[in-house]
Amino acid sequence: MTQVIPLDPGLPQQELIDLAASIIRDGGLVAFPTETVYGLGADAMNESAVRKLFEAKGRPADNPLIVHVCSSEMLDLVAGGINERDHQLIRGFWPGPLTLVLKRKPEVAASVSAGLPSVAVRMPENKIALALIRSAGIPIAAPSANASGRPSPTSAAHVLKDLDGRIDLILDGGATSIGIESTVLDVTTDPPMILRPGAITREMLTEVIGSVEQATSGEELRRSPGTRHRHYSPHARVVLIELESADSIEQICENHLTRGKTGFIGHTPIAINDPNFTAIMLDSSAEAYARSIYSALRELDQAGTTVIIVEGISEDGAGAAVMDRLSRAASEID
Ligand code: TXA
Ligand code: MG
Repeated sequence: MTQVIPLDPGLPQQELIDLAASIIRDGGLVAFPTETVYGLGADAMNESAVRKLFEAKGRPADNPLIVHVCSSEMLDLVAGGINERDHQLIRGFWPGPLTLVLKRKPEVAASVSAGLPSVAVRMPENKIALALIRSAGIPIAAPSANASGRPSPTSAAHVLKDLDGRIDLILDGGATSIGIESTVLDVTTDPPMILRPGAITREMLTEVIGSVEQATSGEELRRSPGTRHRHYSPHARVVLIELESADSIEQICENHLTRGKTGFIGHTPIAINDPNFTAIMLDSSAEAYARSIYSALRELDQAGTTVIIVEGISEDGAGAAVMDRLSRAASEID
């Protein structure tokens, strides 16, 4: 059984952090909160620990991991060729939800990068995460701590549900504040290219370093192999209703309800009173959706719905990242 240790997110207890860090140093697997989602951590320089991590998640070996660091000295252990533009990004956005794809140093376990010459690195903005990396004294490779293909975990309970018995320890720091994964920016090219949108938006990056491209789906597939796999999916089928949809949301829900237990996540109030219908109402802001979308999908799954209707939001700002995740969750392609 996997042990869950509650920690004070404001002032994490050092002896518990040290215990978790010693597990990582010994090649074990520890889940921990970040400001985005929970990560599943392993020593990024230890090939067998990283392999165990892929196995615990059931993650395809061609999907590279993000390495988490707590200092610029630690960054230098894993990545090279960092230029002035990269430093501007680091000064502007670290610690925070921005992952940089950089030139990989050979000391990093090869499987972390899934054979690529690059390595993805970020410095999380979460006291438990930072204290853990500092205490371990080594860079920590950490994908989202869900079973591969499932929605990312935003609480310790989500991690336990997916990975109980498969990992050594979960540090419980409460619900994560942002709720969707970091922006992934490839800075090995000029101009840099966003491979995965997140809370750090294209506009925010452009303000600091000028021109930034957004990967087209073909480019994204080539450069970020992980994106070809099924993602963020609950067991129920997800139907995403774009903002400008002509049909009324209520009508769409009614239609699905004739075929079975139906869930709804959205911001438009729906007047359906049926024991087979469950609605989770969210504020229509990108931040509110990001914070709650994964737990809402998991909750409706638990309730046994066969279809989940999700009402879309505007793609402005961080809304683009939310809609990116929702369209992947809704996609039928494996
Ligand atoms: O917010 C986050 O980024 C969370 C927390 C735990 O930090 N982590 C996370 O990891 O979302 P994961 O493994 O679920 O997603 C990593 C993404 C994948 O899309 C992967 O393809 C991409 O980063 N990636 C990793 N290394 C890469 C590389 N060398 N080149 C291109 N893409 C890379
Ligand atoms: Mg993930």
